[in-house]
Amino acid sequence: MRISDPKVLGGLAKLDVEPRPGTSLAELTSLGIGGKTDLLRIKKHESIPCLLRLLDENHILHKFLGGGSNLLVGDGELPWVVVQLVSPDLDVLLEGNLAHVDAAADLGRTVTYCAKHDLGGMEGLIGVPGTVGGALRMNAGAYGMQIGSYVREVKLYRAATRRIEILRGHQISFEYRHTSFAPDDMMLAVTLELPFKPFKEILEGIRICNEKRRASQPLGQKSAGCIFKNPPGASAGRMIDELGLKTLSVGDACVSDRHANFFVNAGKASARDMLALIANVRERVQKAYGITLENEVVVWNG
Ligand code: EPU
Repeated sequence: MRISDPKVLGGLAKLDVEPRPGTSLAELTSLGIGGKTDLLRIKKHESIPCLLRLLDENHILHKFLGGGSNLLVGDGELPWVVVQLVSPDLDVLLEGNLAHVDAAADLGRTVTYCAKHDLGGMEGLIGVPGTVGGALRMNAGAYGMQIGSYVREVKLYRAATRRIEILRGHQISFEYRHTSFAPDDMMLAVTLELPFKPFKEILEGIRICNEKRRASQPLGQKSAGCIFKNPPGASAGRMIDELGLKTLSVGDACVSDRHANFFVNAGKASARDMLALIANVRERVQKAYGITLENEVVVWNG
């Protein structure tokens, strides 16, 4: 347990932060890989600046966890605590074509909730696991759309000012799987401006995307989605497939037999196994194509 000092525990209680000592991150990530640390669950956004000051003063390192669906966490005892927002009961509020969404809201549920109220645009994101905050930070996208296109404003904790701030959409740059947020900024809420569309039309879009995803991705298996970003003008999955690397494995970490840019945990894979597999594939692609693949998956190792 990283937090045992009664003074710190008292401080957490005052801030209404719930500590869960010795939490296994394997249970909080879609890859099912990761060691143990203390989880701090935040119920009120307003507690965050004080919480981070408390951690700093006590030399406790931290990381922010969203839905854990694009994350590879190291093995064993982890050297930092993990801070996570608890989703409020009412996590999506609609006002005309604006959706005010808590960062902890489930992305898929948000897409379908908006669809039921004739708000579309995000059909491609159906089936992308994780939270709205995580999708925002990575500018998640699929089937020709990306969440960044619909962002009107973002409420976030900014590490640079140590304050909660509101940024307008035009103040943020959203690129392919990349945003201008700092690594230690924490997404708190977002207002999305969505196009009105009849529910039936949105539903048809969702059905088509679901079908494409089911046909090409290993949905029932433990993965973090695509491991590598697509290099400009090329497809990482196609290159890995062309090299005959589907089913290549290190321990229980395995290149999916369905989609070569998905690496799955076929049993009890460790972070060490998965990192070795990533390095191996990257090296083979580099040798064959002269392209160094960049991770899309976020790695918390040490
Ligand atoms: N392909 C192969 N073999 C494979 C996988 C793909 O030949 O094993 C070929 C496909 O046949 C297709 C091309 O490669 O011609 C592209 O494949 P796909 O349509 O599956 O898309 P992708 O570029 O591999 C991207 C995103 C996915 C997103 C899909 C659909 C990245 C890294 N990946 O995949 O996002 O779901 O498009 O829009 O941008 C993710 O970000 O985690 C993710 C899964």
